[in-house]
Amino acid sequence: MLSKLNWLVGLGLLAATSPARAAHLSKHAQDLFDESMNFQDMIYDPSAHYLRWFYFPLAAGVHETRSTVWRTIGLLQRNHGDDAEEAAKILELIIADQEKDTSKQWFGDYTVYPEQPTVGGPAYDPVIYNSWDPNWRGFIGTTLIMVYEEYKDLLPPHIQDLVLESIYNSTVGDTYRVGGVDDDNLYPAYTNPWLMRTVASSWTGMKMNDSNMTYWGDKWTQEFLDLYNVNHTISEYNSPTYVGVSLAALTIAAKYMTNITNPPLIAQHSEQIIRDIWEVESQLWNPMMRNFAGPWDRTYGYDMNNYVAIISLWIWSLVGKDVAYDNVNPIGTFAHADDLEIGPLLAVLADTQKKIIPESVLRRFSSSHFIGEHTYHGQAYAPPVDYEPRNVTTWVSANLTIGAESFNQTALGGSREDTNAWNPAVVQWLRSDGSVGYLTWYSTEKAMQADVSPYTLNLTYPAGNETSVFTFALSSNPLGAKRDIYSLDAIDGLKVEVGGSVKPEPEVSFCGFVGGTCPIIHDFEFWNLTFVMPANSTEVPNIHFKLSLE
Ligand SMILES: *[C@@H]1O[C@H](CO)[C@@H](O)[C@H](O)[C@H]1NC(C)=O
Ligand SMILES: *[C@@H]1O[C@H](CO)[C@@H](O)[C@H](O)[C@H]1NC(C)=O
Ligand SMILES: *[C@@H]1O[C@H](CO)[C@@H](O)[C@H](O)[C@H]1NC(C)=O
Ligand SMILES: *[C@@H]1O[C@H](CO)[C@@H](O)[C@H](O)[C@H]1NC(C)=O
Ligand SMILES: *[C@@H]1O[C@H](CO)[C@@H](O)[C@H](O)[C@H]1NC(C)=O
Ligand SMILES: *[C@@H]1O[C@H](CO)[C@@H](O)[C@H](O)[C@H]1NC(C)=O
Ligand SMILES: *[C@@H]1O[C@H](CO)[C@@H](O)[C@H](O)[C@H]1NC(C)=O
Ligand SMILES: *[C@@H]1O[C@H](CO)[C@@H](O)[C@H](O)[C@H]1NC(C)=O
Ligand SMILES: *[C@@H]1O[C@H](CO)[C@@H](O)[C@H](O)[C@H]1NC(C)=O
Ligand SMILES: *[C@@H]1O[C@H](CO)[C@@H](O)[C@H](O)[C@H]1NC(C)=O
Ligand SMILES: *[C@@H]1O[C@H](CO)[C@@H](O)[C@H](O)[C@H]1NC(C)=O
Ligand SMILES: *[C@@H]1O[C@H](CO)[C@@H](O)[C@H](O)[C@H]1NC(C)=O
Repeated sequence: MLSKLNWLVGLGLLAATSPARAAHLSKHAQDLFDESMNFQDMIYDPSAHYLRWFYFPLAAGVHETRSTVWRTIGLLQRNHGDDAEEAAKILELIIADQEKDTSKQWFGDYTVYPEQPTVGGPAYDPVIYNSWDPNWRGFIGTTLIMVYEEYKDLLPPHIQDLVLESIYNSTVGDTYRVGGVDDDNLYPAYTNPWLMRTVASSWTGMKMNDSNMTYWGDKWTQEFLDLYNVNHTISEYNSPTYVGVSLAALTIAAKYMTNITNPPLIAQHSEQIIRDIWEVESQLWNPMMRNFAGPWDRTYGYDMNNYVAIISLWIWSLVGKDVAYDNVNPIGTFAHADDLEIGPLLAVLADTQKKIIPESVLRRFSSSHFIGEHTYHGQAYAPPVDYEPRNVTTWVSANLTIGAESFNQTALGGSREDTNAWNPAVVQWLRSDGSVGYLTWYSTEKAMQADVSPYTLNLTYPAGNETSVFTFALSSNPLGAKRDIYSLDAIDGLKVEVGGSVKPEPEVSFCGFVGGTCPIIHDFEFWNLTFVMPANSTEVPNIHFKLSLE
């Protein structure tokens, strides 16, 4: 049926279908696109019409929904052989499983994986972020917006209609989300899903003349801006994976919603916000280490050369893979390698984004244009967990970066209350073999005063007492250096002098892949350095590091 349709189109017999053209991809965007599609092709199951579930969590035998929707962008953009037909088939299958019962909290949401039992059945509790993921509406809904905008002419009319209907339901379902209600946490400060919902509502309102959706799209934009305007930073500050998602949502607004009369509010602001984000990130980037200096509000790793952060894929698509990564490891060996599957989507948006970012800002990402030693000051604010805006200071030098933020919060672990992802004080350094060392504070306090200056990091717990500890995750030494780190002088490449009210020698333990006293974090192993207070101390807990390269 579909090939017949294509054939009729080819003969010019179907007037409704104008010849679809692939988006223009520049060299680097095409390179990301090709590598992502080659990888996807290896794990695609053509008989299921789904990508196999790869990497996280390792899942035997099943397939995955979200990445398969990303693949439809790849197939339609590539459009070789039966690619377009396959994309139509995928869309039909995924939308068939979209939740249709408006009384369910997960109405309009998509499956996490197609084999999963029906959510809410007797054996399968609806558990938000587990058996169903509320953010999948945003991820998949915004991807379908791109499918519709870029490639609808490659799809038969009934699939075009289905895609619109699916976006509509997903957008309606997203209106059920209220931070603090029904275990949901969609506050304006949860930047990436907040922006995806805002963009989807604005687009759907515009496309389908739904003034209520348009109204809410603008209202949610205003709520986002109220936080953003504290210091022109997003609340989910400097999070290498999720700032990449926020950039995708903003670029969708910039690409498809600016060139119309009365563009939605999010579209009016999208280009400026994209520029601001890159301005900040370009100052935090250390081009020798290919890492953002800290602090990281939410991270999935301690060294961006060893996990796939979505921002690294953006850098790749804009200025080249060798700028984003310092090694030639196959991406499949990285932690979070599955995030490479978003490649086609980013590639198709890359050239639009590149036009928005000043050349002078993009140049800072390459090591030959390092802007030199500098200090960045900023603020970021993420209520309701932040009592007040956080104060960020980051010092970047060629081979050593120190970045930290002061905060006072209602819970441990930052705005997502995730102690494994929240890294408010981070040191990184370049080691003799070119690899990156890390030393990052692990969350044990809800308030911390952090002062950063060249070569120093000074952390204080205003509400702490003699039971407080300062725990740091420290990288293992590079291959060839000492395998055991039981004192600070065994750390490769970094000299550490400790001052403050703590005992100067830390308790040391190891959190490793195949053993140790504690679990690894985001697939990174580390030495656990824990500094304790002297017994019965009445001093305010404080640790002061003087750091230098060896
Ligand atoms: C959209 O939701 C309605 C219920 O409001 C349902 O009848 C319809 O089948 C859904 N469409 C899709 C594509 O899931
Ligand atoms: C309008 O949008 C709001 C919020 O998104 C939603 O709660 C409400 O049900 C919508 N109203 C109508 C009439 O669709
Ligand atoms: C939306 O309104 C415009 C202008 O009134 C009209 O041309 C268009 O067909 C409408 N679209 C939908 C989906 O109703
Ligand atoms: C909007 O249209 C103008 C003029 O055609 C073009 O230069 C610009 O790149 C477009 N903006 C986007 C985001 O597509
Ligand atoms: C806000 O950000 C600018 C840089 O964009 C910085 O110069 C300024 O110090 C910041 N303000 C505060 C209060 O942190
Ligand atoms: C940084 O490290 C590189 C490579 O080890 C070295 O060539 C360079 O001199 C160092 N720069 C500084 C400022 O320490
Ligand atoms: C951030 O700095 C401002 C101005 O110095 C101060 O009033 C505020 O308390 C600081 N915030 C935190 C969380 O330390
Ligand atoms: C570290 O910060 C605390 C709190 O701001 C301050 O009292 C102390 O003097 C600082 N230590 C050093 C060595 O600067
Ligand atoms: C944090 O903010 C709360 C609420 O304003 C305040 O009661 C508390 O004293 C603050 N804690 C610190 C350590 O500043
Ligand atoms: C020290 O702080 C801990 C954690 O807040 C608290 O449980 C404990 O009672 C405090 N100890 C003293 C002596 O204040
Ligand atoms: C680090 O070690 C301390 C003991 O020194 C332990 O209490 C703590 O749970 C460990 N933290 C992590 C993140 O492994
Ligand atoms: C700490 O205080 C307790 C209780 O007052 C006491 O028994 C203990 O000897 C003190 N320890 C030190 C090292 O002073």
